[in-house]
Amino acid sequence: MRSSSRDCARARRRPVAELVGIFAASHGPLIARDWPRLPDALKQRLSAAYGELGGRVIAVRADAIIGLAPDHWTNFFLDNLPALCIGIGEEHDGPPEPFMRDFAPAPILGDPALGRHILETALACDFEPTLSYRLRLDHGLCLPLSRMALPRMPRIVPILINELEPPMLSYRRCFAWGRLLRDAIASYPEAVRVAILATGGLSHSIGEPTMGAIDEDFDRRCLDAFAQGEEGPLIDLLEHGAAGAGNGAHEIRNWAVAHGAAGGRGFDLIDYIPSPEVYVGCAYAAWR
Ligand SMILES: [Fe+2]
Repeated sequence: MRSSSRDCARARRRPVAELVGIFAASHGPLIARDWPRLPDALKQRLSAAYGELGGRVIAVRADAIIGLAPDHWTNFFLDNLPALCIGIGEEHDGPPEPFMRDFAPAPILGDPALGRHILETALACDFEPTLSYRLRLDHGLCLPLSRMALPRMPRIVPILINELEPPMLSYRRCFAWGRLLRDAIASYPEAVRVAILATGGLSHSIGEPTMGAIDEDFDRRCLDAFAQGEEGPLIDLLEHGAAGAGNGAHEIRNWAVAHGAAGGRGFDLIDYIPSPEVYVGCAYAAWR
């Protein structure tokens, strides 16, 4: 057995922390920026979806949330673009977007010990993430966190995945990352309740000729496949279909990581709101 495999196996023998919930939510920025101008019926439905999700997150009493999100050119650009970056700092900065100025906690408390454990587990298992001791968390994570109206913000371990500029992680690798996260939590030697929150997607187009288009057919097939839970059909659909559902659909990688962490056991769909007003096929889910 190679040393990395030995370390990986050894890490799995000390389960203490608990994965208490896995959730996903869209994060279209117009939900924040254009909120006063959105139709009342849409605002009520979006609020209900985020509220239901928030209620479920509150119910699991998470101490820490692993937040899976894209980086919208906030921390990284083409001169320095990691495929996946784990935030291991004591704290992180809040969103830079003016329309997110009402987001309350600044700075956002991180969980350096849990973040470092995930990083070390990944490296021991032949994954190669990069790291940051301080990230600026944009609307990708902060919009769902704020809309869920949590009375107490858990510590956040952000994991930012390149979902803007190809080439990107394969969906197969995203599922593997999810399994790795599950194993890392199970081997973390602290009594911590950990939740996973994946943000982004589903179909949407930003800054391209199809901007504003929503591929409702793809979104519904995608949600059905996630709900069924089987990884094979999901990988087929995502590898061959997501690229045609707008450049924003690359963010479904975060959902794939969450699904891998859940062991493919399927999820409950809270709501799907294909909203031209916010340019996004907005979806909200909790894994069983
Ligand atoms: Fe996004």
